[in-house]
Amino acid sequence: MNLDTSKGTGNPIDRVEGKLKVTGMAKYASEFKVKNLVYAQGINSTIAKGRITGIDTAEAEAQPGVLAVITYKNAERLAQYDKDLHPLSTTSIQPVLQSDQVHYYGEYVGLVVAETFEQAQYAARLLKYTYSQETPDIDFEDSKGKAYTPTEQSDYSRGNVAEGLAEADVTLDETYITPIEHHHPMELHAIIGSWNGGNVQAYASQQMIDNAATTIADTFQIDKKNVRVMSPYVGGGFGSKLAAKQHVILALMASKAINRPVQLTVSRNQMFTNTNLRQRNEQRIKIGAKSDGTLTALSHDTLSHTSTYEQYQEACGTVTKMLYKTPNNSVTHRLMPMNLQTPFAMRAPGEATGSFALESAMDEMAFKLNMDPIAFRIKNDTQVDPSNGKPFSSRLLNECLRLGAKEFGWENRPQKPASKSEGNWLVGYGVSAASRRAPYMKTSAKVILELKNDTVWATLQMDATDIGTGSYTILAQTVSEYLDIPVEQVDVELGDSEYPVTPGSGGSWGAASFANGARAACEQALKDLKDKAGETAATTTVALMKAAQLSTLEAEGTAEPDEEYKAHSVFSFGANFTEVWVDKDTGVFRIKRMLNVASCGKILNPKTAFGQIIGGCVMGAGMAIAERTEVEPNFGNFITRSFADYHVPVNLDMANIDVVYLPEEDKIANKMGIKGIGELGITSVAASIANAVFNATGKRMRDLPLTPEKMIVKKEEAA
Ligand code: MOS
Repeated sequence: MNLDTSKGTGNPIDRVEGKLKVTGMAKYASEFKVKNLVYAQGINSTIAKGRITGIDTAEAEAQPGVLAVITYKNAERLAQYDKDLHPLSTTSIQPVLQSDQVHYYGEYVGLVVAETFEQAQYAARLLKYTYSQETPDIDFEDSKGKAYTPTEQSDYSRGNVAEGLAEADVTLDETYITPIEHHHPMELHAIIGSWNGGNVQAYASQQMIDNAATTIADTFQIDKKNVRVMSPYVGGGFGSKLAAKQHVILALMASKAINRPVQLTVSRNQMFTNTNLRQRNEQRIKIGAKSDGTLTALSHDTLSHTSTYEQYQEACGTVTKMLYKTPNNSVTHRLMPMNLQTPFAMRAPGEATGSFALESAMDEMAFKLNMDPIAFRIKNDTQVDPSNGKPFSSRLLNECLRLGAKEFGWENRPQKPASKSEGNWLVGYGVSAASRRAPYMKTSAKVILELKNDTVWATLQMDATDIGTGSYTILAQTVSEYLDIPVEQVDVELGDSEYPVTPGSGGSWGAASFANGARAACEQALKDLKDKAGETAATTTVALMKAAQLSTLEAEGTAEPDEEYKAHSVFSFGANFTEVWVDKDTGVFRIKRMLNVASCGKILNPKTAFGQIIGGCVMGAGMAIAERTEVEPNFGNFITRSFADYHVPVNLDMANIDVVYLPEEDKIANKMGIKGIGELGITSVAASIANAVFNATGKRMRDLPLTPEKMIVKKEEAA
């Protein structure tokens, strides 16, 4: 690795925006100073199903400072919205306060706007709603009878699973459950929105700027040219900020009504009900294999819930279609309408949850076959994606497993469950394979060069976002590399819809897409310089600018997937190894160590990449051992409404996490050889932990989270 930190990708430089963040200079959505700003407070329904029969606003409206109370009675009628169940997309018209109907507990039923935040909060408490209440559909078992095939159906099959199972020497049929989870980025969802007579300006915490502008334009039926969205810093999103949610529309609706800029911050409590969730999934896996471990069949049936008015499905079966070679495979997905808010993409949607089921089941099968779980996976490896017949652009899964086994000391794993202990602790090792799509999307960027005192300064502009992942840093490195100037001479400006369009941050496509977009802009700038310089011996950017007699130059470039990319299946791969210690008597357990081996193309910055992977591992551990949103069974409210009861792992729960990258540049994926890393870390961590718990205790954990009471080994079980 080139350790010259002055320029280029591949170097572990510190975050270029780090100082701004730790000194509080980096501004987040709700921190911008806007003249004449007023504050809004959303009101939440206190029933899960029914309709509003009365609203008494008089007392709230009479309070000092109160400027408006908006309910379905006086709210602007928004663009036509299809009330029938329909697939949810990331850009859709966002209706809010459009009728007296209540679809879930906590749905927005009003908005109070006041001169100060405190006045808005106080007045909000004085609003009186009466409802006609119906019994909500909030019970998972009761709702199963209503399960349906989604409109955008994702069912898939090849061969014949029943025949494949009949041919097998060993079979498995098990169901794996993941509970409702919430995203909860540290930065609350927020907007400062100004209607401005139809020239909308919004500081909003969003992952995808262009997408947010489209949603605003479509919802209010205005020209997107008149919508400016800015999101220079985002304090985490994890999928919850992919789409502009209802608070964005509420703030702009209020601003339009009172003709002043409106700040609306979604509280931590409201983030349980108003900014989406990951739904509970029940995943049934069937596997058939010959006694030598050759897979004969694999199926994956997922049952989850959606709201009563939108369809969202998490593609849990994605991994099962492509990860292992088997002639017989099927994947289905069914949804149940329930009086809960519409679920939405949460960190590695499909893979994180799907891999828990598949990789737990693979571990169970290996045990039944009396095979090492690594050998079982390697036996069923494939270099061609069996779901579409395309070769993988690169697939180093076996290498990840082998290298991980060596580094982790897999040979010390107890062969027999519950056979190794340290004092009162049972010790176990677990492994799982990870695969995550590595998308690459059309991305534009602009670079502005300035020659001052014999030095070239570059400014890169794109509407990309940095959601805490390191986009600013890797883009500064990319520009530095392609223009051959020190990274200190590069300024990166992101998160503004006035800049060239990118796909934004999501789906692990950010680094590959943004960096190649920046590369394309730099290559265009150099080409323009060479054209203008004519015949010259100049090779450096400084010399070219001088030869071209230019003090400034602006160039735009666009990068997009080519035919080579489309002809391949492009995934990142990895393997996760975990050692757990479980107390024999109390079930208390510790994740002692974790090793994540990642094969995700060129590493642009080992430091920010490390942050991505260990962040993913901690999030995967959260999914495995802590996170769970509980629904109150009578009223449909969530019982878990703060970090006091919605648990996430703390340092004590986690041990050292080591990360190893396989050296690789995947030039089929894109010109720079980059593949997604953001969501690879979380993928399959939960299975790795559950598999380690089985190895330690002999207890198979199919129902997350793995809380201590589930671990307790009964005397007869231990015997
Ligand atoms: Mo990700 S769930 O696409 O932010």
